[in-house]
Formats: sequence, structure tokens, C-alpha cells
Amino acid sequence: MSFVAGVDIGSLSTEVVIMDREKNYDYVIVPTGANSKTAAQKAMEQSLEHTGYRWEDLEFILATGYGRISIPFAHKRVTEITCHGKGAHFLFPSASTVIDIGGQDSKVIRLSGEGKVIDFVMNEKCAAGTGRFLEVMARSLEVELTMMGTLSKKAENSVPISSMCTVFAESEIVSLVAEGHPVEEIIRGIHDSIAERTVGLANRVGLEKEVVMTGGVAKNGGVVKSLEERLRDNIHIPDEPQVVGAVGAALLAHREAFA
Ligand SMILES: Nc1ncnc2c1ncn2[C@@H]1O[C@H](COP(=O)(O)OP(=O)(O)OP(=O)(O)O)[C@@H](O)[C@H]1O
Ligand SMILES: [Mg+2]
Repeated sequence: MSFVAGVDIGSLSTEVVIMDREKNYDYVIVPTGANSKTAAQKAMEQSLEHTGYRWEDLEFILATGYGRISIPFAHKRVTEITCHGKGAHFLFPSASTVIDIGGQDSKVIRLSGEGKVIDFVMNEKCAAGTGRFLEVMARSLEVELTMMGTLSKKAENSVPISSMCTVFAESEIVSLVAEGHPVEEIIRGIHDSIAERTVGLANRVGLEKEVVMTGGVAKNGGVVKSLEERLRDNIHIPDEPQVVGAVGAALLAHREAFA
């Protein structure tokens, strides 16, 4: 039997996708933790256990994500931009724009009709506008990260967050709570501020429809809703948005092994 694997080692999560010749695939997601090499090894082992395949069955392993350099078993390494573009085009062939919001950066990628990357823009300098920002805010509000989307959808209003920096925004939020603003409205304000930043980023590459969102933050329905309001369009959300980069990596491995 022969298969290929794509590994995406992100700042917060590591994904492995094992793909067969027909491009059917299976995935696992594990936290990256402090050591990306250990996380990748663990994710590979879990993935093999899950599928019942053996290391020897893997013809080609392609790594992406910020931790891709530290993966000794990878045959090739490719940037996240290429892999997210490839994965998003495979899942939604009509998509022209990919918005990826992960733990420590956010990117907007423009694709050609064939799924080639035409242009991209990336925010990697600042936590505001990323998953990390949401995590910090959830902690200060003492709400579960996974509940933020549901909570914000209950809000009638959005409390604007004026701070442009995660550290200042955190103290602003503490003050807003003390002033008696409902938590749901503050969360909606947080989602709106992420959406504003993302649209600002997207405008730099020229946002073109249709739009697909990848990365863990796509699981936050509140951020998706705020973005859809600003784009005046529905956004495609994959069944598992966190694995799109690894799917793209597996597709590139597939081309190396089977084309
Ligand atoms: N179930 C969930 N509900 C809401 N948000 C979630 C959920 N799971 C993950 N997230 C969000 O996704 C973020 C992590 O995204 P992802 O796993 O794509 O990051 P990463 O690929 O490790 O990071 P990067 O690409 O920046 O290196 C978290 O910070 C969190 O905000
Ligand atoms: Mg990522």
C-alpha cells in the first residue's frame, strides 16, 4: 500500500493528513506545545494508528507551517501560503480568496482560477487580529474560547474596542466589564475588531469573491459573522478548517509521489 502525508506544524496546533492515491484522506490534530518536533512525531504516530498504516507505507511526507524546518522525517518543506492555497482550492474550486487566521498570524491569499497563488499579504508582527488575541480575551472574560461565537451572536450591540494592541485591549476589556457592559456585547466588539483588521489586510491584495476561511479561528462563528457582514458575502467554511494547510501539503506530496 502506498500513501502520502502532509504535516502542518503551526504555533498552536499540528495537523497530519494521510492521503491515498484517490485523494481520500484522514487527519489528526494535536496541540503543538513547546516542542514542534515532538508534536509532529506524536501527530504522525497517532495518524498511523488511526489509519492502521505503517511508516513504510508513506511514499512522501511534505511539511509546512512555522515549525516545518524542525521535522527530520519530511522529504520536502513548502510555505503555508502555497499549502493553504492548494488545500482551499481543492475543497472549494471556485474560491478566489483565502483568509487564514491561526494562532499567531493571519494571512489573505489571492488565487487564480486554477488555484495558483497570485498574491498574498500577512500579519505576523502583532497578536491583535489573530487566534492568540481571542485566547487572551477569553481568559480575561473568563469564558470558554469555544463559546465565544455562540455568546457574541446573542448580543444586540457591539461594544467597540479601541485599543490596537493586545495588551492594551486586555485592560480595556477589564474596564468595559467594570463599567457594566454585557459580556456578549464585548465579545462581539472583539470579533468586530478582528474582522476590521482582516478586511484591512484583505484590501491590500484586493479581495475577490468567492471567499474561503481556513485556520482555527474559522471555528469561531462570531468572527465569521462579523467578517461576512463587512464583506457582504457568505464565506465558505470547510468541515474542518484547521486541516486545510495539511490537506494542501498532502496534495503536494501526492503530486511528488504519484504524478
Ligand atoms: N473550537 C474552536 N472554537 C473557536 N476557536 C477555535 C477553536 N479551535 C481553535 N480555535 C482558534 O484557533 C486558533 C488556532 O488556530 P490554528 O490551529 O489554525 O493555529 P496554528 O496553525 O497553530 O497557528 P499559526 O498558523 O499562526 O502558526 C486559536 O488561537 C483559537 O483562537
Ligand atoms: Mg496555521
